[in-house]
Amino acid sequence: MPTALLHPFAKPAKDGFINIVRGEGALVFDDTGKQYIDGIASLWYTQIGHGRTEMADAIADQVRTLEAYNCFDPYTNPRAEELASAVAARSPHPDGRVFLTCSGSESVDSAIKLARLFHVLNGNPERVRIISRDRGYHGVTYGGMSAQGLPPNREGWGQLLSGFDVVPQHDLGAVEKLFADRPGEIAAVLTEPVQGAGGVFPPQPGYLEALRELCTAHGALLIFDEVVCGFGRLGTWFGAQHFGITPDLLTFAKGVTSGYLPLGGVVLSRTICDALEADPDFILRHGFTYSGHPTACAAALRNLRLIDEEGLLARAVHIGERLRDGLTHLFHEGLIREFRGAGAVWAARMNEGVSAADARMKLLDLGVIARPIGDALALCPPLVITDAQIDECLAALQTVLSP
Ligand SMILES: Cc1ncc(COP(=O)(O)O)c(C=O)c1O
Repeated sequence: MPTALLHPFAKPAKDGFINIVRGEGALVFDDTGKQYIDGIASLWYTQIGHGRTEMADAIADQVRTLEAYNCFDPYTNPRAEELASAVAARSPHPDGRVFLTCSGSESVDSAIKLARLFHVLNGNPERVRIISRDRGYHGVTYGGMSAQGLPPNREGWGQLLSGFDVVPQHDLGAVEKLFADRPGEIAAVLTEPVQGAGGVFPPQPGYLEALRELCTAHGALLIFDEVVCGFGRLGTWFGAQHFGITPDLLTFAKGVTSGYLPLGGVVLSRTICDALEADPDFILRHGFTYSGHPTACAAALRNLRLIDEEGLLARAVHIGERLRDGLTHLFHEGLIREFRGAGAVWAARMNEGVSAADARMKLLDLGVIARPIGDALALCPPLVITDAQIDECLAALQTVLSP
């Protein structure tokens, strides 16, 4: 019998889940005491690792002072203000502003709304179309779902939002054609810097640069969905800096708190802020009950300090190199048919006839957590994973894939 908990992204009829009860660094433990190396940072988010007492203290201190208060007009709170400044300072828009949400999906929907609003405020209300890419994952709310390029996730939910065009993954020509066919109608192009949940696909050389140029030339905005790439995953605060591209809007979530509490947001460029601020009587009619939640913001602030203090941006680069070298070895051994990635997020494509889902189960037996996506297995470990633990993940992969 299934339990009362209806699991996300799972078969509702399924019973028998792995019951994770404790975590420490890059390790988690189930209710039988079995230890696993968390090779996927839970769900691409545990940058600082599990079970950090510094986070417990920061969260408890904030709850004792002010657990929560809303940020709707006329209220604010110090933690939300500090976090917005800290995020803007680390972003490509230090003179921009930050809108806070509670999840990646809410951040994507907020960015889409803000992009459309920007054009309305600039007198271009017909600019509503959002271009996104096949294999992009942008969450499950109606906005993010309408933009996402994973067909099974879009089916069975009724009418999606209008005005969305999903183009083939690496096809710049398709983007150019949409701009040519629909002059003055495109609000924004939305893409992850490295596509994560869709299978870990870095952009092809020049692709993001070309998107930037197209958007600028045609008066559209470029939105980077940084929910996975942001906060250190690529060795920089945002993927934008890794690739040297400046988008107009950046979404984030996950790594901003390392998942200790749910929080996300959107960074807005100064140009977009200017449009919002131009009419002093204009009211931004968008916000979540928990936008700027002080305890979630206190968790994020402590997390950012830990990333700084422990040099985790540089560590991400090192982790990525070690994973890449290990996967190169597996490739030369003929055990995988392709590998791809950037920074500390990688995927190994299985050989013909090898099921990534089966390989995941065998890895679990060996105490390693990886994530199957189609015919690939993704690795995206906490940025505190040790070299020995990385090597253990790679050795387990070798064992599982060896004939
Ligand atoms: C790039 C990207 N955008 C948005 C989301 C949605 O985030 P959430 O699950 O927090 O709503 C995800 C989640 O994996 C993601 O990877």
